[in-house]
Amino acid sequence: MDYKPYQSSTSQQPASSNTQSTSVTSTTSGTPAFVMPVSAFPSTAKPSTNTVPSPTANSGGTPSFQFSQHSASSHSSSSSYTASNSNSNQAVPVMSTNELTELRKLVEDVCGIHLEADKQYLLETRLLKLLIEYNCSSYTQLIQLCRGAKQNELRPKLVDLMTTKETMWFRDEHPYETFKTHILPELLKNRAATDTIRIWSAACSTGQEPYSISMCVHELASTTAIYNDLTNGQRLKIKGTDIAPSSILLSKMGRYDMVAMGRGISDIRKNKFFTQQGRAWAVKDEVKKLTEFEQANLQADLSPLGLFDVIFMRNVAIYFSKEFKIQLYAKLAKQLKPNGYLIIGSTESLVGIETPFKLEMHDKTSFYRLKK
Ligand SMILES: C[S@@+](CC[C@H](N)C(=O)[O-])C[C@H]1O[C@@H](n2cnc3c(N)ncnc32)[C@H](O)[C@@H]1O
Repeated sequence: MDYKPYQSSTSQQPASSNTQSTSVTSTTSGTPAFVMPVSAFPSTAKPSTNTVPSPTANSGGTPSFQFSQHSASSHSSSSSYTASNSNSNQAVPVMSTNELTELRKLVEDVCGIHLEADKQYLLETRLLKLLIEYNCSSYTQLIQLCRGAKQNELRPKLVDLMTTKETMWFRDEHPYETFKTHILPELLKNRAATDTIRIWSAACSTGQEPYSISMCVHELASTTAIYNDLTNGQRLKIKGTDIAPSSILLSKMGRYDMVAMGRGISDIRKNKFFTQQGRAWAVKDEVKKLTEFEQANLQADLSPLGLFDVIFMRNVAIYFSKEFKIQLYAKLAKQLKPNGYLIIGSTESLVGIETPFKLEMHDKTSFYRLKK
């Protein structure tokens, strides 16, 4: 047989939230079929009703694939990939060991995400959309496009598909509480009144982290009169960066659906810092005013971003190799002002990684500061 059944896509990386759902169903003939919601198809690749199209040239006996809509009435909301051998022209390409190695290398080159060799299913499920969109009959063809002339177009799409954007408001709660009650007051004591306090949310995903920081700043300013200049947009600035283009776009929009709003935001904060717009909730201008967003790859030279008083780099280094983590923490150290703070994810640790940082604790929160 030329095909191999796909696992349905669930969390493959730590705390995966990617919702590309490719699932397996059985056709009546018992042949596994790969079913994706039509909404998951790029518009250019959506099959029209009753169509069976876009076979790809198939040299060298590599299985090719195409999609078909079995029947407009019975499968109105889904199209299927039906795996089969090359003779029937209906197969999902099989990923060879060599292609797996090359794809893992490609993903690591493009975004630093280190995938172990057992992550074939993750690559298969997440890259299916690109195979369809670019009509690739094999992963080799896709790799060639990503490495070659189409790289500027394809790499951002690859990044969007391969990054796990799991996030929520006030994730883990206590780091935000410590930021508000300890870190920010300490910083303000030690910085000149004319200094701008700069906070960086590196890998900000869809904006929940930088906006949560902004809400903390507003809460502190509203309870303590000496801090009321914090919210004027000059005294303190929060920069959110992420490698994924869609995340930066969504962060800038600052509009969230009910699902996002159900994750970590209290009713009090929701009513104070958001306005309801139909079924969505938009972050109020006063919260947005402290933030700015920019696409940035943590693999790149970070010096153009300037120096920061606090860096939140949470729940992203878990995807990187140890070598990259060492380089990255060394680069972060160069972007931190003296006596600045690095806050990482609550389940992360720098143990076993050589870095210029030392661990400190306040209440339940660990954070890092530069070694003297
Ligand atoms: C799991 S989310 C974490 C979001 C947020 N920091 C939090 O803790 O809720 C990881 C984010 O890292 C981003 N990311 C992955 N690789 C990156 C890289 N090389 N440079 C910048 N961002 C990256 C992803 O796009 C994703 O939005």
